[in-house]
Amino acid sequence: MKRILVTGGTGYIGSHACLELLLADYEVIAIDNLSNSSEESLKRVRNITNKDLIFHKVDLLDKQELNKVLSKYKVDAVIHFAGLKAVGESVELPLKYYFNNVVGTLNLCEAMIKNNVKTIVFSSSCTVYGVQEKMPLKEDCPLQPCNPYGRSKRDVEEILNDIYNMDTSWNIVLLRYFNPVGAHGSGQIGESPLGTPNNLLPYIAQVAVGKLPELHVFGDDYPTSDGTGVRDYIHVVDLSRGHIRALESKISGSGMHTYNLGTGKGCSVFEMISAFEKVSGKKINFQINDRRSGDSAICYADSQKAQKELGWAAEYDIEKMCEDAWHWQSCNPNGYE
Ligand code: NAD
Ligand code: UFG
Repeated sequence: MKRILVTGGTGYIGSHACLELLLADYEVIAIDNLSNSSEESLKRVRNITNKDLIFHKVDLLDKQELNKVLSKYKVDAVIHFAGLKAVGESVELPLKYYFNNVVGTLNLCEAMIKNNVKTIVFSSSCTVYGVQEKMPLKEDCPLQPCNPYGRSKRDVEEILNDIYNMDTSWNIVLLRYFNPVGAHGSGQIGESPLGTPNNLLPYIAQVAVGKLPELHVFGDDYPTSDGTGVRDYIHVVDLSRGHIRALESKISGSGMHTYNLGTGKGCSVFEMISAFEKVSGKKINFQINDRRSGDSAICYADSQKAQKELGWAAEYDIEKMCEDAWHWQSCNPNGYE
């Protein structure tokens, strides 16, 4: 059995990945500083899978504790989710983002080197591409992130590239996620944002459940079919399974690989509202506002490389994403609180 260290394991995507790892018979050691999550998510993962996993509250900025975990558990690989992810906050507090996301990863890599662990799957983002003219986005597009969060992801990608150039026995997989949404089908784990959600689907779900009065649609004058922004939403369970495929196809080799994880299909804000109304039976009230600064009109992936090399493709459609997001939100109106 392979033993995997999952950083950010109590978070939204991390908890879903822990669940899929347990189902695939991996042994899981999760760490998190709980700055944006709660240990309740992993209690529920244990309930759903009827399997156990180890959790330690560790901050990536604490080198000593990090090293202790890596030397105690002889892990075969690391899946690195831990990081701060709010674009707006990263503009207000850039140093916090660079410290946490970049220095945190440097500490992790240093501890991995000390303990001879050389396989890492890193959570990158389509945000590293910035605003681009040509769609779909392929992995070899020029990187031009336009905020500190995106630049922290680009910087970590470059650091990992340099580590590989230093020692080609490393095995590094950079996964660039498009827009992760939805929840596990059990309705027991899902996205539990602190405060008002920044992202579209959790916002819609909170309008549907009556926590927020209406959605603000950021612009209906984009050059898209209905004027609203188009994105490539991907079910969090599909995304989590992408990590397992990355581990399974790469764990015993070495190399440096980058993959987009998306569905390759664009969905507009209005299409998402309609899909959510259909599955929830709730009316989503909205008003049209100005465009949000920094938003692009359209963004979707070319994920053929992941399909060819990892044998991975997203299975779930927008309806299933909305159905599972609604199931989670209606069973847990206040998230894990
Ligand atoms: P999340 O906030 O739910 O999970 C991240 C976890 O990392 C949280 O539990 C947080 O407490 C933990 N964390 C943060 N800093 C830490 C530190 N210094 N030490 C230990 N733990 C720390 O976010 P998520 O949506 O699950 O995202 C997971 C990863 O995927 C992040 O790196 C994020 O940037 C990336 N990503 C997310 C999205 C998205 O839209 N959700 C898109 C692309 C990439
Ligand atoms: N939108 C609204 N109202 C809202 C929230 C969003 O109309 O309240 C619109 C946006 O304008 C955009 C679409 O819904 O057209 C999706 O917005 P999200 O905020 O859900 O997602 P983004 O594509 O803007 O970006 C997010 C993160 C990025 C990350 C990207 C992919 O902010 O950093 O997902 O993972 F790269």
